[in-house]
Amino acid sequence: MTEDDQKLAAAKAAVEYIKDGMIVGLGTGSTAAKMVDLVGEKVRNGLNIIGVPTSEATAKQARENGIKIASLDDVSVIDLTIDGTDEVDPQMRLIKGGGGAHLREKIVASLSDQLIIIAENKKMVAHLGAFKLPVEVIPFACGALLPKLEALGCTPAVRMNSGEPFRTDENNLIVDCDFGKIDDAEELALTLSTMAGVVEHGLFLDLADIVLIGTENGVRKFERNELS
Ligand code: 5RP
Repeated sequence: MTEDDQKLAAAKAAVEYIKDGMIVGLGTGSTAAKMVDLVGEKVRNGLNIIGVPTSEATAKQARENGIKIASLDDVSVIDLTIDGTDEVDPQMRLIKGGGGAHLREKIVASLSDQLIIIAENKKMVAHLGAFKLPVEVIPFACGALLPKLEALGCTPAVRMNSGEPFRTDENNLIVDCDFGKIDDAEELALTLSTMAGVVEHGLFLDLADIVLIGTENGVRKFERNELS
């Protein structure tokens, strides 16, 4: 089974949770894109839902799929959000933001009654941190923030795209922070959240309710209420 097949299997399992009439947060990335296509198929077969996209790319894909979309000006509570991840640890803590959309993703996730994370097997890790932690920063503050981020024990690098700094949907910059291994995700999240100029970091702690992982042997399901 390829990684793509694993992503698709997880996406298929996740869309089973969508019920008629729901407001559904639509994640960003290659795994979430498979889910959006599956939702589009269901909509064409009569499912009536409203999608809340977490990026301009997902909004475009949802429109192309004929999915009705709403912004947070129109809805304030979301029934269910389905999104991908870059890493997930045994406590269902996540690193997100590989696609640079974690600011909107975290806002939508935090407004959702339920967050379902979908991924291929390799995203399951014993410790967070091998994936460089994306930190979205205000351009004005970026130069001053780099040494402060470094002082937290990482190697920070401004994300580039075709020779230019990558810009998020909110026109901010991303600093990818290489921690190697994150020893205390909660403390790091708190520290980053209190740094002026940091808009949002990619640590998603206590947000995922269900994690669906595509593996060689089918989809493995992890639930927050079963965590020890
Ligand atoms: C985007 C994200 C994505 O969900 C994450 O990067 C996973 O992407 P993919 O499904 O392509 O591996 O957080 O900001």
